[in-house]
Amino acid sequence: MINPDPALLQAASEVRLKAYAPYSKFPVGAAIRTLSGKIFVGCNVENVAYPEGTCAEAGAIAAMIAGGEVQIAEILVIADSPEPIPPCGGCRQKIAEFAGQGVPVTLCTTDGKARDLTVADLLPGAFDSHHMDRAK
Ligand code: THU
Repeated sequence: MINPDPALLQAASEVRLKAYAPYSKFPVGAAIRTLSGKIFVGCNVENVAYPEGTCAEAGAIAAMIAGGEVQIAEILVIADSPEPIPPCGGCRQKIAEFAGQGVPVTLCTTDGKARDLTVADLLPGAFDSHHMDRAK
């Protein structure tokens, strides 16, 4: 039985209600706790030109960077879905930019289901800067 962090869960749940998702009608909330203990939130923001929409995780990361922090200690994502939703491929790479492999990722549903993963579970074999070691 997983007990999501109550403050992160509340923050993600609240920001989810602010999502702009008129096309998918699928609001998503994300909350990041940084190493300093601060919480940053984001929601999905869709666009009539569909590929221009952004995910909740990307919004939370942007808020974290704008807040002057770069290290994710924990991230939680919530949606009204039958099962906890897995972050999309692009967001996995975005999360991995700012989180160590062992950082917990908690995926929640609005009806109380939760799944606990790590960044390594989301993106095994991630591309990172050491792959560019020969680049000059
Ligand atoms: N979405 C997120 O915000 N995060 C996820 O982890 C998966 C999907 C959004 C993108 C789009 O606005 C809507 O959910 C449907 O794909």
